[in-house]
Amino acid sequence: MRGAQITGWGAALPEKVVTNHDLSTTLDTTHDWIVERTGIHERRVGGSTSGLAIEAGRLAMEKAGWEPSTVDLVILATTTPDQQVPASASTVQNELGLTCGAFDLNAVCSGFAYSLITAHGFIQVGLSRILVIGADTLSRITDWDDRGTAILFADGAGAVALEAVEGPGELLGWDLGSDGSLRHILDADIGGYLNMDGKEVFRRAVRVMVSSGKAAIERAGLTPDDVDLVIPHQANIRIIESACNKLGIPLDKAVSVLHRTGNTSAASIPLALADAADSGRLQPGAIVLLVGFGAGMTWASAVIRWNP
Ligand code: ACO
Repeated sequence: MRGAQITGWGAALPEKVVTNHDLSTTLDTTHDWIVERTGIHERRVGGSTSGLAIEAGRLAMEKAGWEPSTVDLVILATTTPDQQVPASASTVQNELGLTCGAFDLNAVCSGFAYSLITAHGFIQVGLSRILVIGADTLSRITDWDDRGTAILFADGAGAVALEAVEGPGELLGWDLGSDGSLRHILDADIGGYLNMDGKEVFRRAVRVMVSSGKAAIERAGLTPDDVDLVIPHQANIRIIESACNKLGIPLDKAVSVLHRTGNTSAASIPLALADAADSGRLQPGAIVLLVGFGAGMTWASAVIRWNP
């Protein structure tokens, strides 16, 4: 039997910090309103998608002890590529000195979870080392005069090194899906800004996090009580609270970095994962539920046994 395990991780954030107080100088909003409705205190803005992806990817490879020539594939989850053509993964591959295949995957904020599941599939069919990166620069498609969206979105990247192992590996259960009839509740035209029906996204987000998280836990042959840590998409602390509550998982088992990162789309789950791993919250053997949702609407969940 051939499985896979995460053996390295890395995170990258732009240097520039934009606080809620900064936003309140140009928008009709307040720090207290943003914190109360979202949990976000500040976010990082700047850089390019490939630049952030390269930084996070390099750290993940270093942590895993990988030489560039040994990597078989790089998957870059992103909604905000640097160019229309080619894929930003091509830039990442070249700058990291890799000689492998490379492609972008766009499932918006579910992109990292989609990519991690995809990478596990590639390992099943024979690849050995895959760099999975989530990177987005949503600030480039955010209307900074729109208080409904400008308070939420930001930039960043996170990456994991996924390696083939003997035996079943870390992935115990997974689920992914999409409902394209909901694409109008969060969209951006090419060259345009994000448009969002915040209330509807909120309602749907909680619903799909619960159904997808439950499906992945069941397929793992586990119950919510078995979950040691939840690493959810970092969109809004109230969405995380509500979903955990409905899943029957205490909120203190959820990792949250959104107070300092905002919503970084495909980067948000690997940023939270790297934070949990670096701070010692992720202990060997821990059962971890990754759960993402995003525009599309898309959703994806994975239950893994952490064993780097
Ligand atoms: N500051 C102050 N007041 C505001 C702001 C603001 N930034 N934004 C809206 N308001 C006002 C509204 O105008 C409204 O006023 P009214 O009652 O006089 O009409 C009031 O505050 C309440 O507005 P709501 O939209 O009902 O506020 P809500 O509690 O729903 O919070 C929010 C809005 C934070 C956007 C919330 O709906 C949300 O987080 N939704 C989910 C968004 C999300 O997660 N998107 C990303 C999905 S992932 C991806 O694919 C990128």
